[in-house]
Amino acid sequence: MVHVIVVANEKGGIGKTTIACKLASLLSTDSHEKVEAKYKRTAEKVLLVDTDLQGNATFFTTRQLRSQFEGRSLIEAIAEEDATDYIIELTEHLHVLPSSSKVAMFDAEFTKLRHQLEEPAKWLQRTLAPVAHNYDWIVIDTSPSLTELQLQTFNVSFGGYTNVLIPMQTERFGFHSVQQFSDTLTPVEQHTNPNLAVLGVVPVLTDGTLVDKNIMAEAKEQFGDLLFKTVIKRRAGVKKMVDTGFSEHYAKEREALQDFYDLLLEVKQHV
Ligand SMILES: Nc1ncnc2c1ncn2[C@@H]1O[C@H](COP(=O)(O)OP(=O)(O)O)[C@@H](O)[C@H]1O
Ligand SMILES: [Mg+2]
Repeated sequence: MVHVIVVANEKGGIGKTTIACKLASLLSTDSHEKVEAKYKRTAEKVLLVDTDLQGNATFFTTRQLRSQFEGRSLIEAIAEEDATDYIIELTEHLHVLPSSSKVAMFDAEFTKLRHQLEEPAKWLQRTLAPVAHNYDWIVIDTSPSLTELQLQTFNVSFGGYTNVLIPMQTERFGFHSVQQFSDTLTPVEQHTNPNLAVLGVVPVLTDGTLVDKNIMAEAKEQFGDLLFKTVIKRRAGVKKMVDTGFSEHYAKEREALQDFYDLLLEVKQHV
C-alpha cells in the first residue's frame, strides 16, 4: 500500500519544502556506503507532488524553474483528473508532479466547477488515483496559504492514512501556527476524510537557544507523543543543498543530512 505524507503548516519559510524534498530524495535512493548501519536503506518508488505555486520543490528536484512546466504541470493534470501524462520521471525511483504559476488558478476553477464535480473535495485525490499504485510513497509539498488546493491535499488517501507531517519552527509564532493549523485539520477529518491523521510535529530550524528549548518543552506538553524526537537543526549545509541539489556523496553532505536520516527513521516508525 502507498504511504501518503503531506508536509504542511500555515506558516511559510519554515522548511516544509526542504523536508518534503529531503524525504523524497532519501526514500528514493539507496544509502551511501558510508552511512551508519542504522541509516542503511534501499530505494523505494516515490512520487513528489508540488502543490505550491512557488515551485520550490519542483526546482529542488528537477533543477528547473516552474516556468519550464507551464502547460504540463499539476493544474493540467487536475483538469484531466489524471496525473499520468504529467509526471516527470527523474530517476527510476523518483518521480515528480511539478507545479507552475497556473496552479494559482485552482481555487477559481474549483468555485466554477464544483457543482459539476462528483465529490468536489477529492478532485486532487482522483487526479492521483490512476498512478498511486505505482508508488511506495507519495510525498506532497504544500503552500502556506490555506487555499482550497491545500485543503484538497488533506483528502489524498488510497485506503491508508493521509499522514500530515507538521514542521514547527521552535519560536513563539511557530508554536502558535501549529496550534492554529491543528484547528484547520479537525473539520476535514470530521467531514471529508476520516483517514486524516497527524503523523507528527517536527521541531525545525533550531539553534539550541533557551527559546528553542522552552518552546520544545511547551510543545511536548501540548502535543505529547506527536512531537517528534528528531529535531531539524539550522545548518548551513542544508541551505547550500538548495543550490547544489541532493547528494550524500561527501562527508559534509552526510553531516548536513544527519537530522533528515533521523527524520526518515521516525517517519517510518510512525506511518
Ligand atoms: N535545517 C535547515 N537549516 C538551514 N536552512 C534551512 C533549513 N531548512 C530550511 N532552510 C532554508 O530556509 C528557507 C525556507 O525553507 P523552505 O523549505 O523553503 O520553507 P517553506 O517550504 O516552509 O517555505 C530556505 O532557504 C531553506 O534553504
Ligand atoms: Mg515551500
